[in-house]
Amino acid sequence: MANILVVDDELSMREFLSILLEKDGHHVFTANDGANALEQLQEHKVDLVITDIRMGGMTGLELLQEVKDQYSNIPVLLITAFASPDDAVQAMKNGAFDYITKPFKVDDIKNIVASALSSKPPSPIDHPSFDIIGESLEMQKIFDLISRIAPTHANVLIYGESGTGKELVAQAIHQHSKVAGNNLVPITCNAIPETLFESELFGHVKGSFTGATSDKIGLFGQANNGTAFLDEIGELTPLVQTKLLRVLQEREFKRVGDTRITKVNVRIISATNRDLEEEVMAGRFREDLFYRLAVIPIRMPPLRKRKGDVPLLVDYFLKKYARIFEKEAVQLSSYSMQVLMEYDFPGNVRELENIIERGVALSSSNLILPESLTLSSHRRKENKATTTIPPHLIAVESEKELFSEGLDAIIARYEKQLLKLALERTNSKMKAAELLKMSFRSFRYKVQKYDI
Ligand SMILES: Nc1ncnc2c1ncn2[C@@H]1O[C@H](COP(=O)(O)OP(=O)(O)OP(=O)(O)O)[C@@H](O)[C@H]1O
Ligand SMILES: [Mg+2]
Repeated sequence: MANILVVDDELSMREFLSILLEKDGHHVFTANDGANALEQLQEHKVDLVITDIRMGGMTGLELLQEVKDQYSNIPVLLITAFASPDDAVQAMKNGAFDYITKPFKVDDIKNIVASALSSKPPSPIDHPSFDIIGESLEMQKIFDLISRIAPTHANVLIYGESGTGKELVAQAIHQHSKVAGNNLVPITCNAIPETLFESELFGHVKGSFTGATSDKIGLFGQANNGTAFLDEIGELTPLVQTKLLRVLQEREFKRVGDTRITKVNVRIISATNRDLEEEVMAGRFREDLFYRLAVIPIRMPPLRKRKGDVPLLVDYFLKKYARIFEKEAVQLSSYSMQVLMEYDFPGNVRELENIIERGVALSSSNLILPESLTLSSHRRKENKATTTIPPHLIAVESEKELFSEGLDAIIARYEKQLLKLALERTNSKMKAAELLKMSFRSFRYKVQKYDI
């Protein structure tokens, strides 16, 4: 999802590209000449410019120059006519990301646009105060989005599997919003029974029902002029959905048992690990409520889709838990790191954090070895390999044959097979030695001895 500025003096071309790019989920701005394009660039945050070369007024090459001067990190794609290859060469020399030749194929444009967008250098804005770790392109995009939308008052819906950091993002948005000084009130929707929902959310007056022994300000009241974080929004029952919608529409509510109306001004950030659009289609979630909540959707990538962030997160959590458990600097062995890099983290960052926490707690030295990593075993990729001992390791024709070899020979045979297996699994003597918990020297010695 990117903001793309399409510049062309031909309406049909602007329309064609808009339709094509919007189908891919991008937001498209258009301009009919260079001057207008520069205006749009001042007004909007643009991730990519696509411009025709031959236009009235400023040419595409001149516009390219302006963009390079003023917005050096926005990539520019130029559209050239098949008949003028020189233009293309000139464009590339002047710093265009690439060019598209007319007439073009839909797939070509899509590919070039995708690579131009992913080529963007990481955003130069530093986000130290987010407390969200990640350098992957996926996370850079999230940081970028957070900085852009935080100051607005738009409602945000955060999608993502469990443990991907949805709550962290909600906090970051609030902290960078204009209401950061006011409350951020978390409301876990499925934790509130339907019968109590109204009173929890909107409060009640003393005596309005049995058990209402005093006045109560509801969560919405607490969040007034601030942010309400509605977690697990997909779990709301239909009745509660209707009540919530009314508050969002009217910006007011009545406390239970109260005749007076309370006005509220609350930004709603909600989160779900369900596909809420699917819930809407299936008729389980009100469409009108969905549109009110999902003004700005944010999709948190699962950790397995941004493995490059794993070492960074590991480092962050190692430091955190070494501090908490008052241990000296703890490290992961290189094989442990490899195990984590091959793991797909069904529980995402939360699971990684738990793995490191336990690893730090369990490790007796300052090196965490693979056996101190508690992965949910059914998802551990190399599980099959390590639990099924290859049959040739234990298979013997008969007991008689086994004992006739003598203990030393039996052990030597097993030893050789185990060394081979470890080498096969790790492809590295260093890692194989680590796997067998022996020193590299004695491993190398034995490999020579058995002529492996
Ligand atoms: N990018 C990150 N950097 C640092 N810590 C993270 C990151 N993402 C998640 N965490 C940590 O992982 C844990 C889970 O994060 P969070 O509660 O935000 O996830 P969630 O998406 O709300 O999960 P759930 O759907 O299960 O509620 C928290 O302890 C959080 O601090
Ligand atoms: Mg959560």
